[in-house]
Amino acid sequence: MNTSSVRVRGLKKSFGDLAVLKDVDLEVQAGQVVVILGPSGSGKTTLLRSLNLLETPDAGTLEVCGHRIDIPSHGRFDRATRKQVALLRQKTAMVFQSFNLFPHMTALENVIEGLISVKKVPRAQAAERGRQLLAQVGLAEKADSYPAKLSGGQKQRVAVARGLSMDPEVIFFDEPTSALDPELRDEVLSVMRELANSGMTMLVVTHELRFAREAADRVVFMENGRVVKDCPTEVFFGADSGERIQQFLRRY
Ligand SMILES: Nc1ncnc2c1ncn2[C@@H]1O[C@H](COP(=O)(O)OP(=O)(O)O)[C@@H](O)[C@H]1O
Ligand SMILES: [Mg+2]
Repeated sequence: MNTSSVRVRGLKKSFGDLAVLKDVDLEVQAGQVVVILGPSGSGKTTLLRSLNLLETPDAGTLEVCGHRIDIPSHGRFDRATRKQVALLRQKTAMVFQSFNLFPHMTALENVIEGLISVKKVPRAQAAERGRQLLAQVGLAEKADSYPAKLSGGQKQRVAVARGLSMDPEVIFFDEPTSALDPELRDEVLSVMRELANSGMTMLVVTHELRFAREAADRVVFMENGRVVKDCPTEVFFGADSGERIQQFLRRY
């Protein structure tokens, strides 16, 4: 049985002359929490966005939740591949640094929008599920609030609930706490920790080393478009992780 949720081989991506991903391999087993660390500009966001084809890689093979995409060397995706992309997206969720909530919709409406428009769930049933999810992230009281009336930490928790609404097999987080004031970060991190404990497969780009230490099974360190270290968390934070990692850790 294949227990990989994510398997990436030979992923390459350039923007013009700038090679941003240079032959990236990555594997995430179902139920694993993998934290991606690395300096700014190393390609972390581009990698995450490539995994659900928000960004189209130039080369490589992706297999996400059982859907395989071979990036064609010329031209566009064929019909069968586009179908795989659509199916893959239904099994993944993405949480962005900037929340990306709809300002004209309440918290609850934001959470259930996908259920109604993509999954065609009847509104009353979607609303019931949405309220459960808001309760799960500690926001039962805020169902009818608009994003403008929520703190950054609350907005990000709504975004997590929205991601969960589609019953994803894997969630990608791209610096989910970087836009938040320090005192609001913990409420988001603790929701993420609960998700990790519940067995959710998670791939998390973050600079929160404490979260990485406590919640990650593995740490992947990227630099200049390459994975330069991929090891168990305790090895990454241990004394023998290598000079480059030690130097990076000293800066935080
Ligand atoms: N759409 C884009 N067009 C041009 N350059 C981009 C684009 N997206 C990212 N880049 C560049 O690619 C490099 C890697 O970016 P990114 O994946 O966002 O890195 P990270 O998330 O590790 O900071 C950076 O030099 C960035 O400026
Ligand atoms: Mg980034």
